[in-house]
Amino acid sequence: MNLLERIGMPLFYRLDPETAHGLAISALKLGVAASPGLVTSPRLRTTVAGLNLANPLGLAAGFDKNAEALLGLSRAGFGFFEVGAATPRPQPGNPKPRLFRLTEDQAAINRFGFNNQGMEAIADRLAKRPRDAVLGLNLGANKDSTDRAADFARVLEHCGAHLDFATVNVSSPNTEKLRDLQGKEALGALLAGVMEVRDRLHQPIPIFLKIAPDLSEQEIEEIAEVAIEQKLDAIIATNTTLSRDGLLSQHCGEMGGLSGAPLFEMSTRVLARLSRATGGQIPLIGVGGVSSAEQAYAKICAGASAVQLYTALVYGGLSMVADILHDLDRILQAEGFDNVSEAVGSKRNDWL
Ligand code: FNR
Repeated sequence: MNLLERIGMPLFYRLDPETAHGLAISALKLGVAASPGLVTSPRLRTTVAGLNLANPLGLAAGFDKNAEALLGLSRAGFGFFEVGAATPRPQPGNPKPRLFRLTEDQAAINRFGFNNQGMEAIADRLAKRPRDAVLGLNLGANKDSTDRAADFARVLEHCGAHLDFATVNVSSPNTEKLRDLQGKEALGALLAGVMEVRDRLHQPIPIFLKIAPDLSEQEIEEIAEVAIEQKLDAIIATNTTLSRDGLLSQHCGEMGGLSGAPLFEMSTRVLARLSRATGGQIPLIGVGGVSSAEQAYAKICAGASAVQLYTALVYGGLSMVADILHDLDRILQAEGFDNVSEAVGSKRNDWL
């Protein structure tokens, strides 16, 4: 943690988590957050789904839902970052409180329910994005939509011109029945609609799919089949979990999706299974419970071409991004890899 974070974080913890989060976004907008600039090396530089990344560590969706802090986030050290989820129409999300810190577990539970200002406001900000960053948008569906599958395509159509990639998020646990769209038939139809819009964009961008960790072996295999069929560009594994195993914190009984440390093992197992099921045909992005270089490296060895994180920032501050990357570079070197891509999937069997 840097000095600013050492002073600021204890103050943040006294605030309710959603207010603290709003302040973090404001700090990024004002340019007073950690800003190491570009963190890269020949070992960290990589290409995923055709995107040239300075390093393989990204910011996961949900941190900057409304694309308000694009400049600050582009200077935070990440190799890529994902904003949103954006839905076609603005929506308030679930009633507050809807974000809980689980400090003893180094975790969080959220049930935001896709609160966002809608694709029009978000597209206006995306249009003014920094050009020297790799930026993606998490696509969502309105809660009261009559055709949720079509919502994903609508948001892509409206925002696609400003993006480097977009992620179809059918894995949030906080919109009722959204996860049903992960089923084979529904997912195939939904993705076909999204890919059609993608192909019509002036400059087509890579499309990713984000999956839940609470999937059976068979469900993972079916998703892999559909993803290959639809020629998806990458799969992000995973979103938050409904599981509550082994938690200690006061708020562990809250409804919503659990993220952070307790998700690490479960999401890495799903990642490894998905890696086996896709047989290297689709790049994977590993997310869930990463707070150290060792964990980022473990995800890479389990099959991830790149890694994302979110909840660890609540406990470690943004300065951890550069720390993780410098340590990851050292680990890769010690393990004899000249480039991160060589390590991808190298220990997948440990997680199966
Ligand atoms: C999320 N996450 C998320 N994911 C997504 O695809 N769309 C979203 O809108 C959100 N929103 C969101 C809000 C909050 C408060 C949290 C904590 C998480 C999930 C996130 O991107 C990630 O997949 C999980 O949090 C697991 O990673 P971490 O947090 O354990 O590193």
